[in-house]
Amino acid sequence: MNDLQGKRLVLGLTGGIACYKAAELCRALVKEGAAVQVVMTEAAAQFITPVTMQALSGQPVYTSQWDGREANNMAHINLSREADAIVVAPCSADFIAKLALGRADELLSLMCLARPIGRVPLLLAPAMNREMWAHPATRRNLAQVAQDGATVLGVGSGDQACGETGDGRMLEAAELLEDITAFLQPKPLRGQRVVVTAGPTFEAMDPIRGITNHSSGKMGFAIARAAREAGAQVTLVAGPVHLSTPRGVQRVDVTSARQMLQATLAAVPEADVFVATAAVADWRPASEAGEKIKKDGSGQAPVLAFTENPDILQTVAQGERARSGALFCVGFAAESHDLLAHARAKRARKGIPLLAGNIGPLTFGQDDNQLLLVDEHGEQELPRAPKLQLARMLIAEIARRLPGNLPA
Ligand code: CTP
Repeated sequence: MNDLQGKRLVLGLTGGIACYKAAELCRALVKEGAAVQVVMTEAAAQFITPVTMQALSGQPVYTSQWDGREANNMAHINLSREADAIVVAPCSADFIAKLALGRADELLSLMCLARPIGRVPLLLAPAMNREMWAHPATRRNLAQVAQDGATVLGVGSGDQACGETGDGRMLEAAELLEDITAFLQPKPLRGQRVVVTAGPTFEAMDPIRGITNHSSGKMGFAIARAAREAGAQVTLVAGPVHLSTPRGVQRVDVTSARQMLQATLAAVPEADVFVATAAVADWRPASEAGEKIKKDGSGQAPVLAFTENPDILQTVAQGERARSGALFCVGFAAESHDLLAHARAKRARKGIPLLAGNIGPLTFGQDDNQLLLVDEHGEQELPRAPKLQLARMLIAEIARRLPGNLPA
């Protein structure tokens, strides 16, 4: 399923070199299933042509409030009434100033002003030179438009088209897509704090080698993203994985199980939900050699002794906050067989309200998965789906089990 299936978006472009990124954004939005109506200011059309945007959106572009194509000649009313959101990307300093004043002397600003403010959200992706971004007038105008109900997305930092370096670049298309998608998701965890562990751990035996496992971290990262989309403040404690951090998520990188425990214990005292997806190594070498263990020529393999790692989930579940009901703990079980029996037993052993079981070899490294949820009332299957979609379903299941939320 596409993330924006059935959504109707107005994509507004104002004057700025970042218009070239709006072409890519438009394509990405359409690819995710959104119907995109492009509206461009006169200045935007200096940077990119309406023809390009028409080809990418598959719909004629609007550039003027006097467009005779609308039977009632009120494009500003018609387009804004039909939209699930208006996204202005790039949003220039001048356009922000216009919005702050409530001016409406061309189609895009007119549409923003005429939109039903309680029903059609306005998202702005600012793009400008760093001095313009830092100028007190822009700061003032941004605060004003935010107060008037617009959602101001972030800006990037780095080299600018003008040759200067600093804040004010428009976010990349992929980042905007993630932010827009997140904005349009339901918010059952608004104001909640969520901690997620993800990925494998790596237990060193010497400075070169160690033991680890095949966990890719994808499920945990998807859960962190879904929790953030649902409105939560998220801390993601990640073992060694090659994944980029979901936007808006605070990531703490760790290597070993003991480091993961420390980072988790530092984060959970404030948390409302803890989701343990990490494939923590159950054992670590009893001692870590200070130097690489070398072959001694005898043909004898070294004998390694192991010691058990702390159980992070169990430690947290036995803590005061979880036992008082203030922290809702969710565990994962990766099994190879007898999923239901093992999942039930594991939930009881860990002393947690909810456990998500899956078949390890069918999920490690894959982009999709299926889950069996086990709680005190019984079992429920979440059918095979991409991990992000499954993560959103799991987050919804967690949200409805939180104190204060009635069971559906
Ligand atoms: N877990 C943890 N710390 C550990 C081990 C596991 O937090 N040291 C968490 C995992 O993140 C997961 C759950 O506990 O949520 C998995 O439980 P576990 O009993 O370790 O599962 P398996 O490793 O599959 O156990 P077993 O070998 O008994 O099947």
